[in-house]
Amino acid sequence: MKTVNIALPKGRLGEKVYELMKTAGYPCPELEAGGRKLIFENAEKCVRYFWVKPSDVAIYVERGAADIGVVGKDILLEYEPEVYELLDLNIGKCRMAVAGKASFRDSAVHTLRVATKFPNIAKTYYAGKCRDIDIIHLNGSIELAPILEMSDVIVDIVETGTTLRENNLEVLETIVPISARLICNISSMKFKAETVNTIRRSLEEQVRQGS
Ligand code: PRP
Repeated sequence: MKTVNIALPKGRLGEKVYELMKTAGYPCPELEAGGRKLIFENAEKCVRYFWVKPSDVAIYVERGAADIGVVGKDILLEYEPEVYELLDLNIGKCRMAVAGKASFRDSAVHTLRVATKFPNIAKTYYAGKCRDIDIIHLNGSIELAPILEMSDVIVDIVETGTTLRENNLEVLETIVPISARLICNISSMKFKAETVNTIRRSLEEQVRQGS
């Protein structure tokens, strides 16, 4: 059997995904030992895991360095990588939303200033509403932008809502629900179809049992 390379998003989501893979019959004891190592292999089970920065998972899978990986739907919508989306894992749930000050009232007279880490999602959303926007592309701490009056609103991930609450902001519109997805490289789907499909079916079964 050919080894399947799996890109796991570093952090809590990746650990959950590894637990699912372990239950599915693909454990890797060395990975559980922790430390700073990034690649782990279980040669007997023909799997090799990599810890990857969550926003980079789709790049590894698109370029074939990983055959499969797990990535938030937000990344798929933002970067539109050429990969197959195989399964909604029903974990890592949150939503993409427009947020701002509770007092904010939109007026079509002005171009809307939107701060975000997700310019493509924001552009597509407002294009659908025929609303002119000025994108302010930031890399983090997006909530600062409306507080400092640099933007009118933000387009960002909301999970628990704590960050918004603690900064006196609120959700104004929900754009789309987000969850973690299993993705696969286009040629791996052909050349490693058997193993990839076995993993997909097993994860699907666990998602079904968990829901
Ligand atoms: C994300 C997101 C929000 C926050 C939402 O930021 O951009 O700021 O999490 O989570 P909550 O609704 O549970 O509070 P992240 O932690 O990735 O940090 P960042 O500000 O560096 O982007």
